[in-house]
Amino acid sequence: MADAQAVAAVAAEHLLGARQDQPDRPLGLATGRTMLPVYAALRLQWGQLGRAEQHQLREGWLSFNLDEYVGLAARDRRSFAAFMADQLQDPLGLGPDQLQLPDGLAADPRQEARRYGAALAAAGGIGLQVLGLGLNGHVGFNEPPCAADAPCRCLELSATTRAQNAAAFGGDPQAVPLRAITLGLAEILAAERILLVVTGAAKAAILKRLLQDPPGPELPASWLRRHRAVTVIADAAALSPTAVPTAPPRPPDCW
Ligand code: GLP
Repeated sequence: MADAQAVAAVAAEHLLGARQDQPDRPLGLATGRTMLPVYAALRLQWGQLGRAEQHQLREGWLSFNLDEYVGLAARDRRSFAAFMADQLQDPLGLGPDQLQLPDGLAADPRQEARRYGAALAAAGGIGLQVLGLGLNGHVGFNEPPCAADAPCRCLELSATTRAQNAAAFGGDPQAVPLRAITLGLAEILAAERILLVVTGAAKAAILKRLLQDPPGPELPASWLRRHRAVTVIADAAALSPTAVPTAPPRPPDCW
């Protein structure tokens, strides 16, 4: 597709379509810069619906986000919970329980990860999962190396990811939390359908690897190739020719 706006419009159509076609299956949602135009397009398309349809979609809404930083309160502007409140919860008039995220302030993050994974399973698992792509090939916060059956867990973030996400922390990678709770590849691959959204020239090298390399732990997103219903939506910049970079550093796991 031509650009991030065109990608976003199609991704938003998929998300609203999933809520309309499968109202009993939770959506799987992502955060990050890639999702900003997607959620803007979703708000726009929502605004074009009739009141009765909006009401119906609002009543039945249930979504589970991929991840949250450990140590940040939901009211912290840098948390993914705050991101989702700004982008969807408040504009669409949804209740706080309708958008589920891991609790970044839980006293025991490992226990919270187990609770969150169990809550998703109890809700029937994800219907449509939307994903962005990390510069090191992560999805959610599943950092390389990552097995295809890794469950929802607490883990340490890589230097690459902390640098990638530093903008929300005053540009300082050291200010980005060390740990996060993320749905694993196990829960992501259990989704009925997956939508991978990739935009911008910075993602071209990792997208090229993803489309060419066989599935393996060094590129967590590559496990998506084993899923029966994955759609990749990318813009022209992300599909531009590029050199393949060297492998990023490995973070230790903490579970
Ligand atoms: C982040 C998030 C992912 C996100 C990805 C891409 O660290 N944990 O869910 O999809 O990295 O982020 P961005 O869209 O800002 O490039």
